[in-house]
Amino acid sequence: MAAEAKPQILYFALFLLLSFHLASGAGGTWELLLNDVGISAMHSQLLINDRVVMYDRSNFGPSKISLPNGVCRDSPNDVVSKRDCTAHSIEYDVASNSIRPLTILSNTWCSSGGVTPEGALLQTGGDKEGERKARMLYPCDDDACDWSEVDNALNVRRWYATNHVLPDGRQIIVGGRNQFSFEFFPKTKAPSLYNLPFLSETYDVGQENNLYPFVFLNSDGNIFIFANNRAILLDYETNTVVKTYPKIPGGDPRSYPSTGSAVLLPIENLEEEVIELEVLVCGGAPRGSYLLALDKNTFVKALDTCARIKINDDDPNWVLEKMPRPRVMGDMTLLPNGHVLLINGGSSGSAGWELGREPVLNPDIYHPDKPVGSRFQVQNPSTIPRMYHSTAGLLRDGRVQVGGSNPHQFYNFTDVLFPTELRLEAFSPSYLDSRYWSIRPTIMSPFSQSTVNYGGIMRLRFMVFSIGGVQSPVKVTMVFPSFTSHSFSMSQRLLVLDHVELMRIGVWSYEVSVKVPRSKNLAPPGYYMAFVVNQDIPSEGVWVRLQ
Ligand SMILES: *[C@@H]1O[C@H](CO)[C@@H](O)[C@H](O)[C@H]1NC(C)=O
Repeated sequence: MAAEAKPQILYFALFLLLSFHLASGAGGTWELLLNDVGISAMHSQLLINDRVVMYDRSNFGPSKISLPNGVCRDSPNDVVSKRDCTAHSIEYDVASNSIRPLTILSNTWCSSGGVTPEGALLQTGGDKEGERKARMLYPCDDDACDWSEVDNALNVRRWYATNHVLPDGRQIIVGGRNQFSFEFFPKTKAPSLYNLPFLSETYDVGQENNLYPFVFLNSDGNIFIFANNRAILLDYETNTVVKTYPKIPGGDPRSYPSTGSAVLLPIENLEEEVIELEVLVCGGAPRGSYLLALDKNTFVKALDTCARIKINDDDPNWVLEKMPRPRVMGDMTLLPNGHVLLINGGSSGSAGWELGREPVLNPDIYHPDKPVGSRFQVQNPSTIPRMYHSTAGLLRDGRVQVGGSNPHQFYNFTDVLFPTELRLEAFSPSYLDSRYWSIRPTIMSPFSQSTVNYGGIMRLRFMVFSIGGVQSPVKVTMVFPSFTSHSFSMSQRLLVLDHVELMRIGVWSYEVSVKVPRSKNLAPPGYYMAFVVNQDIPSEGVWVRLQ
């Protein structure tokens, strides 16, 4: 009896150990990619050539990297230098871990953007001479491409606005400082500017709390817009509010400068008549935090809750969940396996110059499918504070790139709290740990930049180097590359494609077939990263063009 029980006890102990290890708190690893990228990564966008374009602003003195080709420019609006020979935009090449400077000549401060169906980066607005401009960057592999700037592309100044990519490939540009309106790029025929009273209704005098609204494309083609503490569903074609959502319980603001963050949770069951889409808003700062920090040097604890809502319910309601900690100015990044990374920010104060305190060095991972109360998993900390003006974004290899942080009016590297940060890091969630190598899929086909068609079937061939290491259903996810600034990743969405079949086609190789979404409302046209996910462990992605 006793002799028989022993191995069972051992197995049980091993099981406990393993399950403890898998579910335990800390996870993930950090690496320093580059010590000095020359600028502070205030805005960032991954492009289809696996290069990340970043920029800050162009009127606050010289950066640490020169403009290409010895170019200099007169910058009458610059308080520090009237002639500036430095770059304020760079391109980071993931493969070679190197940067090159790009040429932006007008001010892109606190602006917005997104990628076009062709894979170009559209940037809109900014400050001063840049406030109504649009700028385009078509990606290239030979270092020959650079920004081009278009004057008067916007009707009005767009500063602290949010863009979202639309089903027809245009972008909607919502709000901005003192702009209670939206418009499109390219501009529509008159009227090209649409009033949005929701933005004046959510404006807090003296504190705003409605900038950089959280905007998502709903499966019915309408636009979900969250500002301050509530949201609407907008039919942007007719400028009609088709649904009004309640306030988040407690009523505290979640938008700039009480900056929280938000994601559309993974979109699943794509053929249902009404798709259950959920928005998750996390963190922020209690009302008044901005003014208390600004006027009284008092740094109020940030909000420690997330609020989750089913936006297509008949009677939608926010459900509050407690985070492991308070967080303001955090970023939320969808991981290829459908988990949500919360990263960066501080735990007191607010967004704005010099107004944040208590850097939050630990990311947290949120598991949307686990029961409330056990969704968060604390991750290992970085050593670098990422306060106001920092960014995070998913790379195709599954790492999350982290950059920026500049809570100062200028480039200030010494004698200040949280100096201007030029270091670029990557956070690797534990799915990249070597212990998972035997179940990690490697995609063999399609090749990167293949085309997939709406309503079609996509077949992905992949290898997994362990017998029985593949567990059906293997998930295939598609992630749209988002534009990140001020704690919000614009146009960020992840689709879990409907499974058709999984076939074993060799000793180590498999083919999984999935349905490509039918609707442009579910997935606007453009390039996506497609991942095969086996037991929550994602492959590297491949770029596929959805058209
Ligand atoms: C920050 O940088 C600006 C411009 O170089 C400089 O004038 C200012 O004194 C700096 N602030 C501090 C606190 O060092």
